Amino acid sequence: MARITFIESNGTTHTADINDGTSLMEGATGHNVPGIDADCGGAMTCGTCLVHIDPAWVERTGTRCEHEQQMLEFAGRDGDNARLSCQIIVDATLDGLVVRLPEAQI
Ligand code: FES
Repeated sequence: MARITFIESNGTTHTADINDGTSLMEGATGHNVPGIDADCGGAMTCGTCLVHIDPAWVERTGTRCEHEQQMLEFAGRDGDNARLSCQIIVDATLDGLVVRLPEAQI
């Protein structure tokens, strides 16, 4: 399990304890964190689960796969440590992770 902090663009903070093996997107939506639409349910076809990883956590959250990279580039949102939260699987090494939510999803 990992405690994850989500920060909305207006500064509102939400903290959620998310089980190992759950995607960051599933954890956020399961805890009613606003701002993650996740229209495709994690199939990596919508791009509406975007988060920005706190710089201190970029290495631990891993790298984008090729398809995720293409999705973010296509949307013009591949900067600022952007990731699709459905592609980040939570485990104990992510305890304390901080992510920021965009002002709006794609
Ligand atoms: Fe659709 Fe992540 S939920 S791309």
